[in-house]
Amino acid sequence: MSSSSAQLIYQGKTLNLPVLSGSDGPDVLDIRELYSSLNLFTYDPGFTVTANCESKITFIDGEDGRLLYRGYPIQQLAEHSDFMEVSYLLLYGNLPNITEKEKFVSCVTRHGMVHEQIRNFYGGFRRDAHPMAIMVGVVGALSAFYHDSLDIKDPRQREIASYRLLAKMPTLAAMAYKYSLGQPFVYPQNSLGYSANFLRMMFAVPCEDYIVNPVLAKAMDRILILHADHEQNASTATVRLAGSSGANPFACIAAGIAALWGPAHGGANEAVLNMLSEIGDVSRIPEYIKRAKDKNDPFRLMGFGHRVYKNYDPRAAVMRESCYEVLNEMGVKNDPLLVLALELERIALEDEYFISKKLYPNVDFYSGIIFKAMGIPASMFTVIFALARTVGWVAQWMEMIADPLQKIGRPRQLYQGVVERNYTEINKRV
Ligand code: SDX
Repeated sequence: MSSSSAQLIYQGKTLNLPVLSGSDGPDVLDIRELYSSLNLFTYDPGFTVTANCESKITFIDGEDGRLLYRGYPIQQLAEHSDFMEVSYLLLYGNLPNITEKEKFVSCVTRHGMVHEQIRNFYGGFRRDAHPMAIMVGVVGALSAFYHDSLDIKDPRQREIASYRLLAKMPTLAAMAYKYSLGQPFVYPQNSLGYSANFLRMMFAVPCEDYIVNPVLAKAMDRILILHADHEQNASTATVRLAGSSGANPFACIAAGIAALWGPAHGGANEAVLNMLSEIGDVSRIPEYIKRAKDKNDPFRLMGFGHRVYKNYDPRAAVMRESCYEVLNEMGVKNDPLLVLALELERIALEDEYFISKKLYPNVDFYSGIIFKAMGIPASMFTVIFALARTVGWVAQWMEMIADPLQKIGRPRQLYQGVVERNYTEINKRV
């Protein structure tokens, strides 16, 4: 909806650009006529101030540190809801009633198994392959098996593909972990909830019963809620761009997994733990704070800063609470890494550099400490982030595909290369 306009005067021409308003957040300048009218592109490396779509799914207020899924504050969902219910909310726009929730959970649960031949892919990887490398491979390969849910023009096939992705990610993720250990894969157990099922597939062995710790299952479920969606972050934008070409949903999610892997994005939780281990002792924190501030040093304080949040990441606050609960449950409340993380957070938040640049702990700062306390290796942290974010990626993909204005994404550039020149034969070159 156009609320007003902005006037651009360039080389003697005047162009009135519509300003569009959303239901919350900044207005946007609609520049779609810019090139045809003034032969101009816009320039915004990293899309720091560029809206690439309209969306109704997630809203972030970076200044106030607010995060809403379909209008519900993340803190309320983390406290009162569960991951299956939040998944329904993200996919369908409203919280389910009892019947809707039971039907949704039942359907997702029954898609938890994977085709038996998918197990063969794992055998092709080295045992020490990073599990994210495995996930990129096997999730993309799902499109080789589920041909009845590849037609993205069919809403029912889109829905089935979404359920399959949501349901099979925990199974594939746990299989990647089991493969790294040389332990047998564990099939999903339909009598368990989503997060409990994942923990059982991760830690059960055939030779004894495995009872899921309800405190850990609840903590995992809350972590999945916190990571489920985050508007147009790098991996979600990747999924949308891949989907805009008409690629099948499994390929699009594999692209999202690849983008999430980077340490500047979803790979930060693993990088935080590696950083804390490298710092090793509270006495060395000043040395690393100094390095983080040094423009000539590539070191960054992992788990700090955010492209959008210039306030405390609301997810980090909830994660911090979960941290205490899990460490207490596991009897490691004085975990040296947590002690180190809390001291690092305290020092950083008092440092002028971090204050002036509005660098606060983000969602990745505490998650690694919780996962480690649960017995999950650092290499699996980003896999769990991908597991959680799959429902957000799928919801955003579904929204894009259903948008009648949707077209293939195709950014332009500011060309700085050599201007046109003619080919010269090799014997005439200097
Ligand atoms: C996620 O987009 C999302 O929504 C992502 C995510 C999601 O849910 O999908 O929230 C998940 O990816 C969280 C972020 C996880 N990454 C990390 O924790 C890695 C460490 N953080 C930094 O790499 C950085 O903060 C980014 C990548 C997160 C943001 O990078 P930006 O947008 O370039 O940061 P900025 O422009 O706000 O930086 C402002 C200044 C810069 O210095 P100057 O050029 O102004 O001198 O702060 C500096 C940056 O160099 N800075 C840091 C820093 N983060 C930014 N300096 C030291 N340590 C840091 N962590």
